[in-house]
Amino acid sequence: MSTFPAARLRRLRSTAGLRDLVRETEVSLDDLILPLFVAPDALGNDALPAMQRFTVEGVVRECEELVRIGARAVILFGVPESKDDEGSGAWVDDGIVQQALRALRPRFPELLLLTDVCLCEYTAHGHCGVLHDDRVDNDASVELLARTAVSHVEAGADAVCPSDMMDGRVGAIRERLPETPIVAYSAKYASAFYGPFRDVAGSAPSFGDRRSYQMDPGNVREALRECELDVAEGADVLLVKPALPYLDVVRAVRERFDLPVAAYNVSGEYAMVKAAAAAGHLDERAAALESLTAIKRAGADMIFTYWVRDVASWLV
Ligand code: PBG
Repeated sequence: MSTFPAARLRRLRSTAGLRDLVRETEVSLDDLILPLFVAPDALGNDALPAMQRFTVEGVVRECEELVRIGARAVILFGVPESKDDEGSGAWVDDGIVQQALRALRPRFPELLLLTDVCLCEYTAHGHCGVLHDDRVDNDASVELLARTAVSHVEAGADAVCPSDMMDGRVGAIRERLPETPIVAYSAKYASAFYGPFRDVAGSAPSFGDRRSYQMDPGNVREALRECELDVAEGADVLLVKPALPYLDVVRAVRERFDLPVAAYNVSGEYAMVKAAAAAGHLDERAAALESLTAIKRAGADMIFTYWVRDVASWLV
């Protein structure tokens, strides 16, 4: 017989108090960022309640409620009145996101206002940059993205989040905005999980796909190269997107870099749980909290997620 007692790991699982005491990872509202869509007209969403469109007045009311329940941060996406080839609605002074920022900034000094910097919601063709002979022109797009980031900060954004995946855009934004935190969508994959977002934002490409700028799902070393460049160009936070199918990428970025890491729990991940719960296959609350815990455990310091309102009610 062994002189050592057999390991008894169940000792620390026997009561809720002990489990709470030894838990390594916890989801907190402090680490969550809620995406909000601002548009000229409101549009509800029964199946995916966190994915509705708000008017500027509506987004003010929504943020009032978010602050009341303890939410800390939102990221604004704009759905413009009209689109053009250049996506000018992204940077004009009276653009939809700029209007929302000017309404929100003075009212909610304690709420973090992040903005998504991309052209796909604003271009008539739905690509994330401007076209030259049906190809997305990198450097011309970078110029317009930097202009967009500057206009967001002038309107009151606390941080900007370039999500376009053009080369060199973080550096171009950093040059113009030395003081602004940049949350770089560094490892953003050409994913099948963005469907519900594109429906709400009206940003599906009208031809082709995004594989000439977003990353191939098979690659992880390339994600680290993307991060390396973004660090060199002045990024403050490195973001991996989507989250759940890419937890190995979150972990790899966490291990290689000492910057804060973000993960985007995208619309398709939210929709899958919602649909499965509606069909009676699983419990939304348990599945959502488990997902968010897993994303943090993999190494994310912060999570962009549609479940912020729900988490606020679940954690009380
Ligand atoms: C803009 C952008 C997208 C998402 C965030 N920023 C869509 C895309 O790349 O097509 C997706 C977010 C989600 O699915 O929740 N480029």
